[in-house]
Amino acid sequence: MHNSITNHQTFYNLTPTAMELVDFIDDGEDARHFRFRLITPQSINTPKPGQFFMLSVPGAGEAPFTFTAKPNNQGVFRALIRKMGDVTTALFQCQSGAILGIRGPFGKGWPIASLSDKKIIMVAGGCGLAPLTGLIDQLIAERHHKHLALVYGARNRALQMLNPERLRWQREISLFDVLEDTGETVTSSKNHVLEGTPLDAMDSVLRTLDWTPDMLLLCGPEVMMKAVAKNFLQRGLPAQSIWLSIERRMHCAVGLCGHCYLSEHHLAHHYVCKDGPTYRWDYLQPPEKTE
Ligand SMILES: Cc1cc2nc3c(=O)[nH]c(=O)nc-3n(C[C@H](O)[C@H](O)[C@H](O)COP(=O)(O)OP(=O)(O)OC[C@H]3O[C@@H](n4cnc5c(N)ncnc54)[C@H](O)[C@@H]3O)c2cc1C
Ligand code: FES
Repeated sequence: MHNSITNHQTFYNLTPTAMELVDFIDDGEDARHFRFRLITPQSINTPKPGQFFMLSVPGAGEAPFTFTAKPNNQGVFRALIRKMGDVTTALFQCQSGAILGIRGPFGKGWPIASLSDKKIIMVAGGCGLAPLTGLIDQLIAERHHKHLALVYGARNRALQMLNPERLRWQREISLFDVLEDTGETVTSSKNHVLEGTPLDAMDSVLRTLDWTPDMLLLCGPEVMMKAVAKNFLQRGLPAQSIWLSIERRMHCAVGLCGHCYLSEHHLAHHYVCKDGPTYRWDYLQPPEKTE
């Protein structure tokens, strides 16, 4: 009998692996930092910082989220999740012990090898801090970089996320909180609190640092990432030294369904789930026209 399976076909297992909701803490408004446990430790590959997983809530569906801490030997890992729509609302109704599903890790993580010996500035907005969390922890642990600064923007103090992590990091890295509405600023905090958007604060941030960044990593609303990237290009940072993590709607997460297709015309057949979500800035720009 003719076998229709050829060597060129790739087969994907789209069935989620079981995991348990261990517990969570409220973190910012309408957001929680969850701990999950793989029912069988090592049942997924170890994620790299910036990679994501598909979380499934039985009866509600699947959505992509980033690991803020990768699975340990017991299979326990963490993710910061904001309540948005069907899947996250159903997740927020789950109690400790609920059995959920996970697929992944997917996508390409941050370019860790290129960060060695670099003077790195990270700019994050809102929930965009989540995909940088694992990377910051890894960089602090390995110390292959020269300098590290984080500029974290939020609308106000109530919306700031990952507070325990930022408290821990401020002993190790230069940390700048930027708030559109500073309210009654708490002055006992060791990190700098600036007013406005990360872009508004950038002159002040760069004056405070006694080093000049040679690598920029961005994660947050696209309008913020574009503005900050363009600002650093004007300051002379090469496009090849700017990386960002982008979000698109995802269904399959393995390059089959086309939901995360990048509409930029020069990126034909390009899917954020497998080719992203992290990109070098120049890769996303249309090629310069030559007459
Ligand atoms: C690679 C990746 C990593 C992510 N990591 C995190 C994370 O760590 N933490 C976190 O809280 N969220 C993260 N997200 C976002 C999260 O996946 C979405 O908020 C998800 O849609 C929530 O599912 P839901 O069913 O609850 O909401 P949905 O019902 O899907 O959406 C609720 C609302 O958000 C809008 N929306 C959702 N996703 C998008 C999108 N990509 N583009 C434009 N509009 C959109 C919808 O139109 C709707 O108004 C990530 C997304 C991607 C692609
Ligand atoms: S989510 Fe299906 S192709 Fe990317």
